[in-house]
Amino acid sequence: MPIIQWQESYATGIQIIDDQHRQLFQTINELFDLIQTDAALPQILGNLDFLLAYAVNHFQTEESFMAESGYPDLSEHHDEHRRLVERIHTIRARFSTPEPPTPLELSRMVSEWTSHHIGEVDMGYASFLKRRGEA
Ligand SMILES: [Fe+2]
Repeated sequence: MPIIQWQESYATGIQIIDDQHRQLFQTINELFDLIQTDAALPQILGNLDFLLAYAVNHFQTEESFMAESGYPDLSEHHDEHRRLVERIHTIRARFSTPEPPTPLELSRMVSEWTSHHIGEVDMGYASFLKRRGEA
């Protein structure tokens, strides 16, 4: 059963961003599936490597939209992206230690990313672009 479910309230209305967000949801759900089924470490690390690379590329996509449109909160948004990437790095590193992240820690990271970042912060620039008639 998926840990996070895409919902219409997450839609920014910008096709490429929404497609990338859906892929992120899918990868995170796969990560939880791997953990719940006690998958081997290389599989979990492989998922996290993909998640990291995909997230970095996705954040660049968002930031280039923001830069092109002169979005005033780009710098704060960039800082949140940087913190999210650091958290995924930290989580990935901890899987190779005797104290891997607990499901609760992972759920917290995921919910901060989805409910807070996608559900609230990303909506900020989505409405900005819409107001400017660019989305
Ligand atoms: Fe974002």
